[in-house]
Amino acid sequence: GAPVEVDIGDLKVGEQKVAEWRGKPVWIIRRSDEMTAALPKNDNELADPNSEKPFTMPLPEYCNNAFRARAEHKNIQVLVGVCSHLGCSPSEKFKTGAQAGLPDNWPGGYLCPCHGSRFDLAGRVFKNVPAPTNLDVPRYMFVTDTKIVIG
Ligand code: FES
Repeated sequence: GAPVEVDIGDLKVGEQKVAEWRGKPVWIIRRSDEMTAALPKNDNELADPNSEKPFTMPLPEYCNNAFRARAEHKNIQVLVGVCSHLGCSPSEKFKTGAQAGLPDNWPGGYLCPCHGSRFDLAGRVFKNVPAPTNLDVPRYMFVTDTKIVIG
């Protein structure tokens, strides 16, 4: 499939937009500093916190950073919104507990409506859910401060 250009100039902190790439939804999320800073706290509860086991594509090397945000610019996260279990699209319940209608201790992330797999705000899968791997991060690059090209 052809690369897809996405304008993120209007993407506010804490919001997400969805693009389509190779027939799949791709999420672009502008995390707050707090959301990104909280990611390492999830590590003990994750199946693969360091993203060693790819789903359908390897994690781009520029996203393989020490703070485990799986992003080139740490507050912009790009994910393929396809569950690694049976391919449903997890819900956009990426906000924290009360905002997402989930318990207050829900740190923000994604919930798959099909069989309940949960992912954090970097698309990393929690333990004890059917999904075996983290969500894919596609290759992408910033062409300007406000435009990214996916693929
Ligand atoms: Fe997502 Fe089964 S398809 S949990």
